[in-house]
Formats: sequence, C-alpha cells, structure tokens
Amino acid sequence: MAHVLVTGGAGYIGSTLVPMLLERGYQVTVVDRLYFGPQTLPSHPALRVVKADIRRVDPRVFEGVTGLIDLAGISNDPACELDPELTRSVNLEGSRRCHRLAQGAGVERIVFASSCSVYGHGEGTQLVETSPLHPVSLYARCKADVEASLLELGRTTPIVVTALRFATVFGLARRMRFDLAVNVMTKNAYTQQRIVVDGGGKQWRPFVHVADVAEALLRTLEAPADKVRGEVINVGNNINNVRILNLAYRVRDAIPGTHLDIAGTDPDLRDYNVNFDKIEGILGWRPGRTVDDGIAEVLLALREGRVDPDDRRFYTLKQYVFLAEVERTFGDVAIEGRVLS
Ligand SMILES: NC(=O)c1ccc[n+]([C@@H]2O[C@H](COP(=O)([O-])OP(=O)(O)OC[C@H]3O[C@@H](n4cnc5c(N)ncnc54)[C@H](O)[C@@H]3O)[C@@H](O)[C@H]2O)c1
Repeated sequence: MAHVLVTGGAGYIGSTLVPMLLERGYQVTVVDRLYFGPQTLPSHPALRVVKADIRRVDPRVFEGVTGLIDLAGISNDPACELDPELTRSVNLEGSRRCHRLAQGAGVERIVFASSCSVYGHGEGTQLVETSPLHPVSLYARCKADVEASLLELGRTTPIVVTALRFATVFGLARRMRFDLAVNVMTKNAYTQQRIVVDGGGKQWRPFVHVADVAEALLRTLEAPADKVRGEVINVGNNINNVRILNLAYRVRDAIPGTHLDIAGTDPDLRDYNVNFDKIEGILGWRPGRTVDDGIAEVLLALREGRVDPDDRRFYTLKQYVFLAEVERTFGDVAIEGRVLS
C-alpha cells in the first residue's frame, strides 16, 4: 500500500485531504504540531499522527513513505508578520528540511502547497504560471523561495516534485478557517448582518473550494510522473476570479439585509486575477465548485449550528497570538512543566 506523509495534515486543507487519502486506501502519516487541536483528524487504523515540528521531526518518520504532501506552516499574512524570524524558520527552512529528508529517504514524490499570492500585485489579468512573481508579503515570499528550492531539488535528483499554487480557499472543513474571505464574509453577514470591505474592493482574488484543493493534491500525487515532474500549477477555476466588492454583493444576495461597509483603508496590494487552464491540461480535471456554492455551504452549516463561529481555533491569527501568550505565561509560571497541578 502506498504511504503518504502529510505535513500540516491536521489543518484546514489537511483535515479535508486526509480522510480522502484514507478512503482511497493509502497509509497516511500526519506530521503536525496540532496548533488547532487534534480533533480535526479522524481515528483510523491506517492513520498515524505524529505530533512534531517540521523543523525538528525525526528523519525516521520518512522511512517507507512514498509521497510527501507539504502543507505545514503559518498560513496567512498577519500571522506570518507576528514573528518574521519564526515564519522564515518554519515556512522556509522547515519546508526545505522536510523536502531534503524526503529525498534522502527515497520518497518518490513531493507535492508542495504554494499560493497564487506569489503573483502579488499582478500585472494585468489572467496570470499564468510563467508570469512574473511580485510577492508583497513575507508569507508569499517564503512560498516563492520554497518553490524555487524544490524545483532545484527536482532538477538535481530523481524525485518528482510539483508546486501547486492554490487560489484563496473557501468552504467548510473540520479545522474551519474564518479568516479566509468567502468564509469570513459569510460568517459576518450571518452573525452581524454586516460586511466590511477593506482595501477599496476593486482588487481581484481567485478562489477555490477546499475539497477541490484536496482533489487536486490527490490527482497530482497519482498523475503519471512525466506529467507533473517539475511543474508549477495554479489550482482554481477562471470563473472563480472575483473582485472583493463583487464577493460582498454575492454574500449579501445570499443573506438579504446585510449592510456593506466599504472601508476607506489603504488599497490592498494583493490584487491578482489568475488563469487556471494549465491544471486541466495536465490533470484532465478542473475544480468545479463555485464561490456561490461555498457561501451556501458555510451559511447552511452556521444556520444548522454545525460550526461554531466563536471557536478561537477557527481564526488563524487569533490562535497564533493566543499560543504566543501561552508560551510567555507558561515560561513565567511553570515549575517542572506544571502550572496548577
Ligand atoms: N487556505 C488557503 O487559502 C491557502 C491558499 C494557498 C496556500 N495555502 C497553503 O496550504 C497549506 C495549508 O493551509 P491551511 O489553510 O490548511 O492552513 P492551516 O493553518 O489550517 O494548516 C497548517 C497546519 O500546519 C501546522 N503547523 C504549523 N507550523 C508547524 C510546524 N512548525 N511543524 C508542524 N506543523 C506545523 C499547523 O498546526 C496546521 O495544522 C499552507 O502551507 C498554506 O500556506 C493555503
């Protein structure tokens, strides 16, 4: 049985992908610090969860692994800005370390979770994989740098490497993220009947459903090696390029009575409209779920009480701020690893 190691497998995308891999009959190892809790993963005889840091994980976890899916890392701009040195050590050095360990252990393939944010302030619309990169955040710069070193590893060793540049993800998952545009706007419209549109709203952003991202990862893992070797592929669908203001209108259409507040904040530099034709050419498939599907799905889950909009773990920045505070406080009060006991 093929054995896939998923770093960051307990996160938003991982908690959707891992059950799919198990369903397909893979043996799965997740390496994750479980920053958002262990409840995001199912218990399954073919699943091994290793609570470890990618910067220090024991190289022996790679033994017998055939494919690595690299999802681990600090996953949005503001959380990355909290501690730039930490971000570089995790998102850049941590990923590179895992790629080298995988290659050294004879893993056949690596699929890396990159991001369309590497295009930054895109020049023109319908950016393709060879368009110039203008990353405007530390998060995006780390993605671009890891892509470059991964492709180099693929050129100099037999390992098959692929970088998937995801659009901004939406939809429901066991580790929910209410810090992503479609999800947060839907949640705010439902809970506060109000949406704030930052940065003018004219900026383009491509979106993709979390289940489609998981499907793209799976298909890349299973594609013939010569189709995906050394490739960089945008993951999304042309029809899901949406201006932020238009997204707000769509959410308001789904939740009538919602008030739109167009904030006079600085223009958002992250403005990119992406072409997603290559994925269909390579994988013979393209993500099909629309932004409106995602709004409806998240809204229904909120209405039915299946997702708690107040759970701190569903807000990436809030959770990292909380963890930093825990670490500081623990350092102050702990005696031999104990606080109250
Ligand atoms: N969600 C999106 O819109 C999106 C878009 C483009 C790219 N991506 C990328 O996809 C990947 C997964 O994103 P996500 O939305 O699931 O994010 P997430 O924050 O939900 O998941 C990341 C996981 O990595 C783990 N992690 C963080 N630091 C770690 C460390 N040092 N060692 C081990 N584990 C660690 C966390 O515990 C978490 O479970 C990330 O690399 C992200 O940058 C996400």
